[in-house]
Amino acid sequence: MARVNANYDKLAAGYLFPEIARRTKAFIEANPGATVMRLGIGNTTEALTPAILDGLRQGVEKLADNSTYTGYGDEQGDSRLRQAIAGSYAERGAQIEAGEVFVSDGAKPDAANIQSIFSQDAVIAVQDPAYPVYVDSNVIAGRTGESRDGTYEGLVYMRCDESNGFFPHPPEQKADLIYLCSPNNPTGAVASKEQLKEFVDYARKNKAVIIFDAAYAEYISDKSLPRTIYEIEGAKECAIEINSFSKTAGFTGVRLGWTIVPKALLAEGAEAGKINSLWNRRQCTMFNGASNVVQEGGLAALSQKGRTESARLIEYYMGNARVIVDGLKSKGLTVYGGVNAPYVWLKTPNGMKSWDFFDKLLNECRVVGTPGSGFGPAGEGFFRLSAFGHRENIDKAVESIKVNLVL
Ligand code: MLT
Repeated sequence: MARVNANYDKLAAGYLFPEIARRTKAFIEANPGATVMRLGIGNTTEALTPAILDGLRQGVEKLADNSTYTGYGDEQGDSRLRQAIAGSYAERGAQIEAGEVFVSDGAKPDAANIQSIFSQDAVIAVQDPAYPVYVDSNVIAGRTGESRDGTYEGLVYMRCDESNGFFPHPPEQKADLIYLCSPNNPTGAVASKEQLKEFVDYARKNKAVIIFDAAYAEYISDKSLPRTIYEIEGAKECAIEINSFSKTAGFTGVRLGWTIVPKALLAEGAEAGKINSLWNRRQCTMFNGASNVVQEGGLAALSQKGRTESARLIEYYMGNARVIVDGLKSKGLTVYGGVNAPYVWLKTPNGMKSWDFFDKLLNECRVVGTPGSGFGPAGEGFFRLSAFGHRENIDKAVESIKVNLVL
């Protein structure tokens, strides 16, 4: 008799973004003709840049001729792209080899799948609030007990709140796998080098592994802030880094990302090289490589021209973030993030619950955002607005909040 994976029943709610989409759809059905401004999911809206389009077109053209056609590629990614990604780390003083780069179809699957190469009894620590994938993938894998009051038994929650600038210290207890995201989704907080060093020191002392999600690294404009954990000495012994072309080059729908698994990485019972070879094994079994066309686009995105163009896109979205931050502040709201990250984290007025504020913002202003509690219990009382959107929609949304939100 087939039985389903009962761990799915432990998941506290539907995945956050489909739930928001469901509620928004219900609102539109109940209010025919209403125009809703979506600042919920962090989804890119601006067209791909010319250099990237050229790269993608070249990728298609290669498929049009038998002499340049390719079928399956290397599961780990095109060697030219692996080399280019590795090269981009050198600029930040980090030495990464192409053999440590695993190209994928995005950061989300890697963030969800990476846990599978670690032991079933690994103790998981997450920032609270956190991108839901880190928690949910470990719940599904059976590393937690039941959910109670928004927390899962067996998980270590590292609270991120106003008192610590939304970035935690390492946990008091021993954790084996530690998920960190900086610039942070959802709070927009960015860890300093000193803060990351504290985690690297903790991980080396405890033989823990840090899973560092750097998907928003290119949004950092403050040069003193680290854009990769490998800027921290010793991080190659204890950290895996996940990154993506989604938010940097507008590949949310195109799909391309990568994970760095250093050969020097150590874990209990795993000598140098072992974890790199495990991830390689996992990818060879379960992944057939990223699309060849898309990888040509990725290469173009990493060219000088591609990077200059993408920097302009990022500046555009960060202009949106400034509009949101300034507008909310002028309304008297308490606002965090939105400076080196495309997410604005606002404190709900009068201590309102996050989902109540979601309904209020939708009803009064027709603006969709993301309830902080959807990212973990410490997100309760907060609300995320995404800076991804066309400027005119962002302007309209902020104006509507200024005029219509009743405080
Ligand atoms: C978000 O809105 O948090 C992200 O866009 C979702 C994602 O990257 O999967």
